Amino acid sequence: MKKGMSRFMKKRVLTGDRPTGKLHIGHYFGSLKKRVEMQNSGDYDIYILIADVQALTDNFNNPEKVRKNVRELAMDYLACGIDPEKTTIYIQSMIPETAELTVYYSNLVTIARLQRNPTVKTEIAQKKELFGESVTYGFLGYPVSQAADITTFEGELVPTGEDQEPLIEQCREIVRKFNSIYGEVLVEPKIVLSEGKRIKGLDGNEKMGKSLGNAIYLSDSEEEITKKVMSAVTDPNRIKKDDLGNPDICMVAYYHKLFSSKEEIDTVCAECRAGKRGCVACKKQLAKNISEYLKPIREKRKYYEEHPELVDKILKEGTQKARKTAQNTMRKVKEAMKLDYFE
Ligand code: TRP
Repeated sequence: MKKGMSRFMKKRVLTGDRPTGKLHIGHYFGSLKKRVEMQNSGDYDIYILIADVQALTDNFNNPEKVRKNVRELAMDYLACGIDPEKTTIYIQSMIPETAELTVYYSNLVTIARLQRNPTVKTEIAQKKELFGESVTYGFLGYPVSQAADITTFEGELVPTGEDQEPLIEQCREIVRKFNSIYGEVLVEPKIVLSEGKRIKGLDGNEKMGKSLGNAIYLSDSEEEITKKVMSAVTDPNRIKKDDLGNPDICMVAYYHKLFSSKEEIDTVCAECRAGKRGCVACKKQLAKNISEYLKPIREKRKYYEEHPELVDKILKEGTQKARKTAQNTMRKVKEAMKLDYFE
């Protein structure tokens, strides 16, 4: 293969997150781990966006929160093994081409279609406090802007969670409509459902989340992890140590299965069922294993926390590179839309 050719054979991947909080182990097993594997396979050309514009659609009254979390998110990515030499991390608001494309796309989608989008519908219902009876134009329209995020970079694959499926579908519709009117310019993306599993919260809730207070963060210290694990929900019928326990309904056993060795899991579960192991000992062992597992991530994160100038440099360079790609797409779009006046 000729040098320089490989880039063109690699599939372009685009994904990202809203910068609204630090990432937890649910994010790690759900999506980050997979992104790092895709990166290290060398088969993909990956762009990861920090979606600050989208974060503002429901945090417009809290710009400080979004600003702060842009760097937190970048540090979480880097700590987990996203390598800026291989993957481009960029800030959404610094790509004006995406905003521009959003305007053109807004002609290609109806208000009724946006109101029917199941993800948007659910979110609007959850955000009554912010929106009252009438949702903002920006929030209702964020699927249009997300379609622009993906297509500005000619993203072919979008690795993300199930909840994003209606958004990717809406993007595909916009692309088809655009291409049918202006010519075959845009790439229709495909979702790649992250095979990662969904991790339950420490309280047994199906979802781990910041607002639920049941999460272990990638940045948590050993003490924080221990404190949280001590509060994890165990078999409610087990009161004394020699009561026979049921690991199937115990969150400590559930996490042992993610963080402990096969041998340990077998011993812990057998001893619990036989009433031979107390929950406190079991929790201590788990906290140690989680802490050990997250240690390289925590240490790498700490390094970036102590070198904020390095994080800024990575974001700046990633965004500069992304901008070039975006300008290239925009040239093609404008030509197709007959907006290339003086070219
Ligand atoms: N909607 C995504 C989330 O809530 C973030 C996001 C914005 C995104 N633009 C994207 C994800 C483009 C994938 C592709 O986390």
